Amino acid sequence: MNEEQRLQAGLIKPGIEKPANKVEKDYSKYFETVYTPPSLKEAKKRGKEEIAYHDDFRIEERFLGMGNGRKFYIRTYGCQMNEHDTEVMAGIFIGLGYEPTDTVDDADVILLNTCAIRENAENKVFGELGHLKPLKLEKPDLLIGVCGCMSQEESVVNKILKTYDQVDMIFGTHNIHRLPNILHEAYLSKEMVVEVWSKEGDIIENLPKVRHGNIKAWVNIMYGCDKFCTYCIVPYTRGKERSRRPHDIIQEVRQLAAQGYKEIMLLGQNVNAYGKDFEDIDYRLGDLMDDLRKINIPRIRFTTSHPRDFDDHLIEVLAKGGNLLDHIHLPVQSGSSDILKIMARKYTRESYLELVRKIKAAIPNVTLTTDIIVGFPNETEEQFEETMSLYKEVGFEMAYTYIYSPREGTPAAKMVDNIPMEVKKERLQRLNALVNEMSAEAMKPYKGKIVKVLVEGESKRNPEVLSGYTEKNKLVNFKAPRSVIGEIVEVKITEAKTWSLDGEYIGVVEEDKVMS
Ligand code: SAH
Ligand code: SF4
Ligand code: F3S
Repeated sequence: MNEEQRLQAGLIKPGIEKPANKVEKDYSKYFETVYTPPSLKEAKKRGKEEIAYHDDFRIEERFLGMGNGRKFYIRTYGCQMNEHDTEVMAGIFIGLGYEPTDTVDDADVILLNTCAIRENAENKVFGELGHLKPLKLEKPDLLIGVCGCMSQEESVVNKILKTYDQVDMIFGTHNIHRLPNILHEAYLSKEMVVEVWSKEGDIIENLPKVRHGNIKAWVNIMYGCDKFCTYCIVPYTRGKERSRRPHDIIQEVRQLAAQGYKEIMLLGQNVNAYGKDFEDIDYRLGDLMDDLRKINIPRIRFTTSHPRDFDDHLIEVLAKGGNLLDHIHLPVQSGSSDILKIMARKYTRESYLELVRKIKAAIPNVTLTTDIIVGFPNETEEQFEETMSLYKEVGFEMAYTYIYSPREGTPAAKMVDNIPMEVKKERLQRLNALVNEMSAEAMKPYKGKIVKVLVEGESKRNPEVLSGYTEKNKLVNFKAPRSVIGEIVEVKITEAKTWSLDGEYIGVVEEDKVMS
């Protein structure tokens, strides 16, 4: 692609002059032509024609060997999708000849793969950039890059341009495959290289990956999000919903099975929308799961589900069991229909409960977990109590809970909020007490039972103890020979705690039954 085409595609031209510190400059001119800040109106006009499919990624010959004698370090923030992007970037670094390192001190390139979901996630990154400044001064040849979701926000790019001159590269979530070119530019230029697609993102297949471990693997099934919940930055940072072709996903899972992986986590911000964007085939998440369950791999999970597109066919397929596990993470966010309405979640308390009823009828032993936001603008005490009562009514076994954090550019950030932070914090505490109590309750019946555990490694606290997860994602600690790491074993539970189970090792499960 030549310079002009790249500009037309909305790609920021590398080589924006690096600003001198403390000089107030107007950077808007850079963004007028090359960067589109979050705009709900614009983003909602998303059309299907914008998505391009490339299955021919390869590292250009001229870049091979770029990393010889050099080391890279990537620090990852945020969700599993970001973790998986890090695996892809590591794959590209290795392809370029770099070696990995696990300390910043001996790295030649440091990347911060960032998350923008809440303000504190962003603050951590700015703090880390501050810590890296002395290292950059000590080693002027060091390259520091910021990528991930924060790089897709205009205010962040602006702030880095203005005040963090230790940064050499900024690139967005849609530009990961351009890493070799970005590094190349950064080595040549003394100026900050900024490359952020303002378009909606493409699908690039054939990307190299260095996976973290050889037991569990992440597999993207779709990218982006079109739900536009009013509080959420993700639709702006990850672009339009776009699904990978079934064939590419099935092939990747088959390969992972052949390589001996035991568990696959299918990834998407809203996996239930999978296939909605296909124009040529009628193929949705239920169809994909029905195809994947026939692959000889013991465990398949998926995250994250959105209640809105959770259809009956998917429930029917999940009920077939086998390697499709009976744990569903189904974020509800709030138990109040009024709050759900202003969050634009497009379901009500009643319709969520109806979905839960259907899932439980089809999969009686199902475990449900969720995400909840407390202190949404103007949430009343009654509305918060509705969240507490819904939590009990569903019988969730675990939840990720958050205090609402306004994100610039989202509709909710413009809402007037009359709830003091103290009240929000107190509600979070009350909710967390309930979450703990219900988790402990859910753990109790395991005492004396035998569970299947995928052994991941030594326990964090005690190297003599191994740990792993059950099919329902409960953490189990037990003593066993290290040779069972990576195997699915049976463990008899001797003690149930609030967040984990202790048990006695019985033996390796010879062959996990896979439905055909
Ligand atoms: N796609 C997933 C969630 C992705 S973000 C879904 O729709 O369920 C993970 C969680 O972060 C969300 O479920 C929500 O609970 C929380 N979250 C997102 N934006 C937030 C914000 N502005 N403030 C606080 N929590 C937020
Ligand atoms: Fe954000 Fe999830 Fe809503 Fe998408 S569906 S806007 S990722 S909370
Ligand atoms: Fe964060 Fe981006 Fe994931 S905002 S939660 S890293 S999609």
